[in-house]
Amino acid sequence: MANAEELKRAAAEAALDFVEDKMALGIGTGTTAEAFVRALAQRVRGGLKVTGVATSERTERLCQELSIPMATLETLPRLDLTVDGADEIDPGLRLLKGGGGALLREKIVAKASKRMIVVADAAKLVDELGAFPLPIEINGFGMVATYLAIQEATEALGLSGDLTLRRRGEEPFITDSGHLILDADFGRIPDPQALSRALHEVPGVVEHGLFLGLASDALVASSDGVRHLTV
Ligand code: A5P
Repeated sequence: MANAEELKRAAAEAALDFVEDKMALGIGTGTTAEAFVRALAQRVRGGLKVTGVATSERTERLCQELSIPMATLETLPRLDLTVDGADEIDPGLRLLKGGGGALLREKIVAKASKRMIVVADAAKLVDELGAFPLPIEINGFGMVATYLAIQEATEALGLSGDLTLRRRGEEPFITDSGHLILDADFGRIPDPQALSRALHEVPGVVEHGLFLGLASDALVASSDGVRHLTV
């Protein structure tokens, strides 16, 4: 029986089959995306030519350490492919992301890509999103008012659950773009599209971790091998 690390590595390595020479690549954040970065770096050392755009400062640093050529969306605004992990994947390849706090840049990069492939171990597959707390990135200004507005908007959809300010130790967690994160423990999200719309209507909400209609493929590893799921 393979352990979680081996499964993440297997999914990440399978994504290399989709990487072609001279591609502009969006590079995700999290432990599975890091396994992809390490596998990609090996190919780059072997002569593969790609340019990466990182979805977080953490990924940027790792790519630089491993000598993967990097650019930003400012100079490379259209990407061929993004490879990223997820916290939950539903049967329609709708994703819940942001456990690592990089959801805003991850979503911008995914949207800028012709194709997004999710890499994960099979534990990430769910019938319905929401058991993993949904990260909601908010502006620091008026955060209590934003908190209350989110509560009102989600209760109107019949969703209830704790909204918890994410912390790093004693201090609030601050994202790469300088915002805060509320983790919403809804338990289940029966209508992700309605929730996405409702959250975007709340002033102060910068982004949320529902990735709807962005991923076209998922490479999901289990002890039986890597399955390629598509929509
Ligand atoms: C980062 O903000 C997240 O969206 C990650 O993609 C997600 O948390 C998956 O991370 P792991 O691959 O570490 O499980």
